[in-house]
Amino acid sequence: MMQSQIRPRRLRGSDTLRKMVRETRMSPESLILPVFIKEGENIKTEIPSLPNQFHYSPDRVSEAAEMALSHGVGKLLLFGIPQHKDACGSEAYNEHAALQEGIRILKERYPELYIITDVCMCEYTSHGHCGILTGNEVDNDKTLPYLAKIALSHVQAGADMVAPSDMMDGRIDAIRTVLDENGYLNTPIMSYSAKYASAFYGPFRDAAGSAPSFGNRKGYQMDPHNAREALKESLLDAEEGADILMVKPALAYLDIIRTVKDNTDLPLAAYSVSGEYAMTKAAAAAGLIDEYGVMCETAVSIFRAGADILISYYAPELADAIRKGDIG
Ligand code: PBG
Repeated sequence: MMQSQIRPRRLRGSDTLRKMVRETRMSPESLILPVFIKEGENIKTEIPSLPNQFHYSPDRVSEAAEMALSHGVGKLLLFGIPQHKDACGSEAYNEHAALQEGIRILKERYPELYIITDVCMCEYTSHGHCGILTGNEVDNDKTLPYLAKIALSHVQAGADMVAPSDMMDGRIDAIRTVLDENGYLNTPIMSYSAKYASAFYGPFRDAAGSAPSFGNRKGYQMDPHNAREALKESLLDAEEGADILMVKPALAYLDIIRTVKDNTDLPLAAYSVSGEYAMTKAAAAAGLIDEYGVMCETAVSIFRAGADILISYYAPELADAIRKGDIG
């Protein structure tokens, strides 16, 4: 005979009870969908490494916005994919490049849509690294003015927020300074503050054509062994003026999300990256897992770890799941 008066199961007896005592609450308002804008015309092509994700040319990117908005996802994180690459990634700050054109089109058609842009150079450089090279090294300080110029061009095209993902030291300060000098005092920066050198970016690099042509990104992205360093990076970015911090990837770094959340006072985003999405898709296609269940449970775990915002290729499906009450 069980003696205890305390029976945790009492609160699990019905859906009503379980939903009442949920510790983790989620909202479609917290979701951001990544979208790829590719130079060209009349393009909507499925990305082989990312099932159900597409490359859109600027003239068709409205279809992505339409789809997201129809699920109640009002925030996009935009990536640009140029045709022309060079050593200094000059297409990245060309005001007529695909990304900048796409931003203008989206802003005009959907003023209510919130547009965030990824600020980086790896999609734009011929060598595929996230900055300017000196010899075979990414030159941190030479890269900073380029990042600032790129961020400014996104904001001038109409971006509501910029999200630098390059992991150069001092880039938040460099971008903040240039935005402020140009009158964009109120444009927030979401910093990829704790971004790890991760194999989970593989499908994205196929999608964006941004794999480094030599070496790797371990000289600037973080070592997966380090947790305290994630806090150091995040506090530095906060000091430089970041408005939102980010941990990336998400699923293999839930402890980092918790650490950053508990030790900083800025809103925290987590990026559930391409490899997390592609693995779920592949396992589901192989009949090994229930895709919907795994998608939901993964998202819950990221919010439970402390994220306030989730960037996910599943954002539309997650918004539906939250609205149905399956999660959140
Ligand atoms: C650009 C960038 C990357 C991702 C977001 N911004 C790739 C990288 O750092 O190699 C990855 C996103 C994903 O995997 O979904 N630097």
